[in-house]
Amino acid sequence: MEKHRIAVICGDGIGPEVVAEGVKVLEASAARSGSFGFEFTYFPWGCDYYLRTGVMMPEDGIEQLSGFDAILLGAVGDPRVPDHISLRGLLIAIRKSFDQYINLRPVKLLEGAPCPLKDRTPADIDMIFVRENTEGEYSGCGAWLYKDSPEEVVIQDAVFSRKGTERVMRYAYGLARSTGKPLTSISKGNALNYSMVFWDQIFREVGREFPDVRTNTLLVDAASMFMVKAPERFGVVVASNLFGDILTDLGAAIAGGMGLAAGANINPERRYPSMFEPIHGSAPDIAGKQIANPMATIWSAAQLLEFLGHADEASRVLSAMGGVLKEKRVVTPDLGGTARTRDVGDEIASRL
Ligand code: IPM
Ligand code: MG
Repeated sequence: MEKHRIAVICGDGIGPEVVAEGVKVLEASAARSGSFGFEFTYFPWGCDYYLRTGVMMPEDGIEQLSGFDAILLGAVGDPRVPDHISLRGLLIAIRKSFDQYINLRPVKLLEGAPCPLKDRTPADIDMIFVRENTEGEYSGCGAWLYKDSPEEVVIQDAVFSRKGTERVMRYAYGLARSTGKPLTSISKGNALNYSMVFWDQIFREVGREFPDVRTNTLLVDAASMFMVKAPERFGVVVASNLFGDILTDLGAAIAGGMGLAAGANINPERRYPSMFEPIHGSAPDIAGKQIANPMATIWSAAQLLEFLGHADEASRVLSAMGGVLKEKRVVTPDLGGTARTRDVGDEIASRL
């Protein structure tokens, strides 16, 4: 029987609670199918680990992860550790080291999920974001000169390589082609005269390989307005690292909240493991209380199933989750219920 080896990093805050439910559902899915199995290996990395050891993960952490088929990650961040240290030391380090250059984030309103937009239904909100995930505004390139002096200067460079930009565009066009959805590119070429003019150019160039795909370009500020006023305009959306980061939180807000926002960090060539994580943070204020919604993690787990070649199982997980959401009997407080985190996982797993 095919056995998938999964590295599990629960991380901080609500991470361990929501990941436990993701793992539960993956186990249930494998058991249901009978044709594959999972072997989970846990890594205790995160902010507690940092406070004990001075590093977010061991020096050979990336090497330790490299042999796995996929990584399931909970959340990273703790008020006791500066965010740029915790995130750059773990989450962003993994995304970059494993060249997970596609961050795939569904923004899909499921039936039963709360939507703050008036009169909107699931038919109106069904997009998928392709966020560039390794360079752009997150390149980590820059300088801090004359620190703590009146002449202090800070430079944070955005880096857009031709290779990095072409490959994210090509992926997005491919996804638009295979799903039949229109493709929107998010830009700011009117103000960012190098990076975003280049971005627009590559969008057009790669588009020549995909004449069948319907396209348009929106400036990021206008896009944020249209996501609220006319979300039905969006299908596949391709965006740079920072723009994609910001718009997918807006996406989470219009599609049921952070408790339902899933994500996958993908290395499409499969040279390295891909990583699946809910896009919400560690939510330290509600950690350990069993009130966090595990659905975002379970949705990410469905993305993991699909990535490992089990698309049927992935859609079973999603429809089980959709059923629970619609009935609203076993949902967490963010969705107006009183169920605990583990009850939701149990309910979804039992429906498989
Ligand atoms: C996300 C998060 C991260 C990001 C943070 C925690 C560094 O906001 O995954 O969207 O900006 O990529
Ligand atoms: Mg974010």
